[in-house]
Amino acid sequence: MLTMSASSTANTAEPPVMALEQTRQVDKALERFVDRADMPTNLREAVRYSLLNGGKRLRPVLTLLSCQAVGGDSDNAMPAAMAVELIHAFSLVHDDLPAMDDDDLRRGRPTLHIAKGEAMAILAGDMMMGLAFTALVDSDASIDAALSGRLVAELAAGNNAMIAGQVDDTLGEFDADLSDKQRLERIHTNKTGALIRAACRMGALVGLQNAPAGEASRSLDLITIYAESIGLMFQIVDDLIDVEQTAEHTGKNTGKDLDAGKLTYPGVLGVEASRVTVDTLHRQAIDALAPLGAAASPLRDLCDFLAVRTK
Ligand code: IPE
Ligand code: IPE
Ligand code: MG
Ligand code: MG
Ligand code: MG
Repeated sequence: MLTMSASSTANTAEPPVMALEQTRQVDKALERFVDRADMPTNLREAVRYSLLNGGKRLRPVLTLLSCQAVGGDSDNAMPAAMAVELIHAFSLVHDDLPAMDDDDLRRGRPTLHIAKGEAMAILAGDMMMGLAFTALVDSDASIDAALSGRLVAELAAGNNAMIAGQVDDTLGEFDADLSDKQRLERIHTNKTGALIRAACRMGALVGLQNAPAGEASRSLDLITIYAESIGLMFQIVDDLIDVEQTAEHTGKNTGKDLDAGKLTYPGVLGVEASRVTVDTLHRQAIDALAPLGAAASPLRDLCDFLAVRTK
């Protein structure tokens, strides 16, 4: 059952049932898409290895639910949902490389560079970035050229900010006058928040394609506040998971950030203050959804889960 206590660290939080259904739809759509895409067999195997089986699919589910929250048909948002998960999967493959976080476990199995070598991990990551944009522009759903252009721009912005955030996280060259807290916020907002922002905004843009301009801009602003709040919250919770959970539970190595010298919320603020920040962002996200009414209920439930997830 979903536990509502944001201070809980028990291993029991489960995604809401609604999100589980959407997760299965995303899995099926991704598998169909990858099996149809043109690429050599060994590359396809590498892409399948890292993309299918195992991810929580939170970003694509956010895309589908954001579309629904603004009154759209979430089926039309599936290409955008697949695209954001492809960028995310690429980011994880590269994040785990020896030159980056040097991890050997991801989604409960050996990382791609351990399973298939470093060259293939680099190239499969590159391929997934390209495939993301193919998924967006190849869509046979009712998405016109103007909307398609906006979706590409959103995804590119999210991708580029994610990469900038990974550079800051990995190489950490900052202006001397930035405090650790300011550095942290910049890293987390970019490396994780930006793609979550793109996920939600793309869903909303699809859902609002036929809405009057005034309503569309108000709803997009609300979804953006929600997305920015949960985006930062997501990485703070990830940092807490690194200090509080096991590899067996999460399917990825934990207890590494401190040794690797990473700037993290628990490292800079401590666990308690990190939890308080999670609670504040959680509330901000829920408040932003109020004007959207019942259509946004699944987004509320998902946000409640994201605040207490343990993997
Ligand atoms: C892990 O993301 C990487 C971060 C940005 C914190 P997820 O926790 O969503 O990983 P998967 O997709 O479920 O494997
Ligand atoms: C990863 O952050 C962010 C991206 C992949 C862009 P982390 O390095 O903390 O993610 P995990 O903990 O390895 O999943
Ligand atoms: Mg990293
Ligand atoms: Mg990592
Ligand atoms: Mg982490």
